[in-house]
Amino acid sequence: MTEVLIKITNMSKAFPTGEGDFLALKDVNLSFIKGEFTGIVGPSGSGKTTMLNIIGSLDTQSSGEVEVLGKEIKSLSAKESAELRSRHLGFIFQTYNLLPVYTVYENVEFPLLLLKISPDKRHKMVMQALEWLGLTDKQKSRPAQLSGGQCQRVAIARAMVKEPSLVLADEPTANLDTENSLHILDMMKKLNQELGTSFIFSTHDQKVINYLRRVIRLVDGMVAGDDTQAG
Ligand SMILES: Nc1ncnc2c1ncn2[C@@H]1O[C@H](COP(=O)(O)OP(=O)(O)O)[C@@H](O)[C@H]1O
Ligand SMILES: [Mg+2]
Repeated sequence: MTEVLIKITNMSKAFPTGEGDFLALKDVNLSFIKGEFTGIVGPSGSGKTTMLNIIGSLDTQSSGEVEVLGKEIKSLSAKESAELRSRHLGFIFQTYNLLPVYTVYENVEFPLLLLKISPDKRHKMVMQALEWLGLTDKQKSRPAQLSGGQCQRVAIARAMVKEPSLVLADEPTANLDTENSLHILDMMKKLNQELGTSFIFSTHDQKVINYLRRVIRLVDGMVAGDDTQAG
């Protein structure tokens, strides 16, 4: 049975500006099911980050409906929305957003500290996530001692450690060279296939686009294409 993770209906997002509202997303209708490996693709300013922020309940729509894991995000209190994120969603950012004074181990452990998990179980989960990303021997390093590709692997381990239903990644390869980008994509695709975790990326990088199974094209805040490919 296909499990719908996200359902977006007639959704628009307006940002107030000096000259009135600016419509960053216009009448979007999209669904995402469990196990997807999908890219939101479009030029800079087309609304990719805005879309991911809304899907991730970091922001809310101006009109229309957005259901994330069966809950309308606009109806959630701040506490409920934080709980949805901390339990079920993983985030990966272009600039990694690692905590510089913490070790790799501590960075990956961080999201688990918000959940009620015993220290034993927490340790097992961190070690598992480090193993998935090939970081076991880097666990005592700090971000400054790592390459960009390694930092992004730590960020993926941190997003994966609680085994979320959905990982959202905003231009995850934008700061990486081709070799590291492809390595990162291989790892995410393997996690997608082996664990069934859904991934939704934003990108304008052709290397990333070739890896995707579903490509959603945004132009000026409108969905201009939604295609499934071999990936
Ligand atoms: N907080 C904001 N206030 C006003 N305009 C915004 C805000 N956030 C984004 N925008 C505008 O919305 C459009 C889409 O932005 P964004 O989602 O960041 O695009 P992308 O990630 O595709 O580059 C851009 O024109 C941007 O300037
Ligand atoms: Mg963006």
